[in-house]
Amino acid sequence: MGGVSAAWDPSLYTTSPAVLPSPNTTGIGWEDAFAKAQDFLAELTLEEKTTLITGTNGPCPGNIIGIERLGFKGLCLQDGPLSIRQATYASVFPAGVNAGASFDREQFYKRGLYMGQEFKGKGAEIALGPVAGPLGRTPWGGRNWEGFGADPYLSGIANAETVLGIQDAGVQATTKHFIGNEQETQRNPSVADDGTTIESVSTNIDDRAMHELYVWPFADAVKAGTASIMCSYNRLNGSYGCQNSKILNGILKDELRFQGHLTNAHRGAVHAGVATIEAGLDMNMPGGIGFSSPTPSFWGANATAAVNNGTIPESRIDDMILRIMTPYFHLGQDKDFPPVDKSSAEINGKAESSFGFPFELGPIVDVRTEEHTQFIRESAANSTVLIKNTGSLPLKAPKNIAVFGNGAGDYEAGLYSFVGAFLADAEEQGTLGSGGGSGTGRYSYLVTPLEAIKARAKQDDALVQFILSNEVITEYGIDTIVPAPEVCLVFIKSWATEGFDRDELEPEHNGTAVVETVADSCSNTIVVHNGAGPVLLPFASHPNVTAILLSHFPGQESGNSLVDVLYGDVNPSGHLPYTIPSSLSVASPPIVNSTELVETTDPNAWQDPFTESLYIDYRYYALKNGSVDYPFGFGLSYTTFSLSDLSVSAVPGTSNSSSLPSASSPVLPGGNADLWKPLYVANVSVSNTGDVAGAAVPQLYVNIADAGAPAGTPQWQLRGFDRVDLAPGETKTVGFELLRRDLSFWDVEAQQWRLPSGTIGVEAGFNFEERTVKASLA
Ligand code: NOJ
Repeated sequence: MGGVSAAWDPSLYTTSPAVLPSPNTTGIGWEDAFAKAQDFLAELTLEEKTTLITGTNGPCPGNIIGIERLGFKGLCLQDGPLSIRQATYASVFPAGVNAGASFDREQFYKRGLYMGQEFKGKGAEIALGPVAGPLGRTPWGGRNWEGFGADPYLSGIANAETVLGIQDAGVQATTKHFIGNEQETQRNPSVADDGTTIESVSTNIDDRAMHELYVWPFADAVKAGTASIMCSYNRLNGSYGCQNSKILNGILKDELRFQGHLTNAHRGAVHAGVATIEAGLDMNMPGGIGFSSPTPSFWGANATAAVNNGTIPESRIDDMILRIMTPYFHLGQDKDFPPVDKSSAEINGKAESSFGFPFELGPIVDVRTEEHTQFIRESAANSTVLIKNTGSLPLKAPKNIAVFGNGAGDYEAGLYSFVGAFLADAEEQGTLGSGGGSGTGRYSYLVTPLEAIKARAKQDDALVQFILSNEVITEYGIDTIVPAPEVCLVFIKSWATEGFDRDELEPEHNGTAVVETVADSCSNTIVVHNGAGPVLLPFASHPNVTAILLSHFPGQESGNSLVDVLYGDVNPSGHLPYTIPSSLSVASPPIVNSTELVETTDPNAWQDPFTESLYIDYRYYALKNGSVDYPFGFGLSYTTFSLSDLSVSAVPGTSNSSSLPSASSPVLPGGNADLWKPLYVANVSVSNTGDVAGAAVPQLYVNIADAGAPAGTPQWQLRGFDRVDLAPGETKTVGFELLRRDLSFWDVEAQQWRLPSGTIGVEAGFNFEERTVKASLA
């Protein structure tokens, strides 16, 4: 591929050097709790230590047994990134992709805080979220929607704020999946017809892309103090993600000084005992303690034996305990933490531990609150992305409305998309409030678009007719709807789930034909797409398609949030956290999944070289020039905004900054402390030039490529954003701090971040392609 610095040399990336031993935590930033964890550790027998690092059966998806004599009730680990999944009467929040689309730090934080409160109320000490990987390298990725968008800077800030929110509620956040879990296909080993075990796909990433794209958001999460990080199923440069000592010991625990505990993606990410312990894994889930439930663990009794026979030093196990218990004490989880909610045990079907005695359970509590519900409704509405609007929105109290398409009504597989819809394709009928798999939620209710439209239309005494079957629409047309509607709302959708990658980028279930059929007969057709993005919108230029909204996976208040936008009670301010390419042929890069591979008997056949290196999403499309329908950061509003007066000033005392961070600067969680110091501040004026209130999302892009960064550096990269509320006619100045890391590239030779020597350009705009104001860092 043109523009990438060096030819891809597989020999450089399909091996991963050993980095041993695993660095010890010293409890940086959590000193009081570290002292408590040391006291706790001093009381433990070796058997107690190995049960504390190994999961057991129990009421939660992950369980650590308690130690009664020490007043430790054990740990409950619960999915996931948008809700506490395995419990009844909990809220289902908008997905990560919706939060990303808000470009709103306050929303990131509050979403984390409110979810954290619900996890705590249900007795879960550890939340298995947020998601920084997949980052969204490929538009086909089945789990991209769980994360915040295909840019490391956006994802980094969203992850950090979410971690802060969850942990301010007293719950440990688990930032996942470390690292390179960019496709679901062959994420776990398979067995060939001749019985050979075919290993998981090996994600092969060069050192710059590793640092500048994939590790970047995890560094933010570590800096924010994430208690836990989950390693991933895939192999990484030839070695399994949960036993790759280069990335776990080397990058995470040494370079980033991660002080918390590393756990594994449950069921199947751990392929060895001693090797995973040595490589830096601290907690093995779901475990099994040498019993066969659900599968025998490589740890548990085996870990005890490994210490007793001298293979593993007990000091390594002690470090694991300190890493697990320090965040526990730091968050005050030793004091009055609620018991595990009985509903979790009912759903999991396992209240007993592998040791044969039950976990103590609490009553079923309803953790939903009015504040959470209101937030879900508002945040989903705010983050809806308006892609096209010729003036039909907001609606002006129409009296005759027609609703079309299979995305408008109730989801036919019910309110829970874990088991029933851990499926490659969604059911035909029904709106998608979230995707599937462990990142889904268990709804107590879901307000559908049809239901909310009917309720809202009543206020205007309006007629609401509908045809929900895509087949009926495309085969028979819409002539049965009479009199001709003033507005036709078409609901189409795209599914995505853990366990599978997407197999099409156009709306599923013949969605394009549904839109075209309606639009051919209805001059005011408004399209609402629900579900995974990026999605191709080939009907966008149809003259009768007057507006298009992307609501992604908006959570339980879906219909209400949408109606708020349709009727103008909320002015949408969502912006795409990824790029929508113009066609399948230019969408890049694909996942690895050839027939040859599916039929292979070579254990090592699944290789995924990330040859595009730093060029993913907008970085890639910019390199290819002109193949984009809707750029990264794009989103319309019911008002208009302008930007002016971009200026940049050096932070006093930093003008002669050395190109490398100071070697004497402490290495703290997040890396060398110098990397997080602001060197410049950019200011820009943002004005509301229309006549309704709205929120603008100014974005700042920097160019280090032309300032001396090595070949292969994308020309423009996001390094600032904000969401700014503006009354009509109002102007505000928005400031963006540019940290040393924001302006540096990863110097592969020096193994350090380096500032380029030339003048760095900065440009601000309302999306990647319209950077209208320019300046440089003098
Ligand atoms: C494996 C998934 O990859 C992870 O995201 C999830 O938290 C665990 N399973 C537990 O369900």
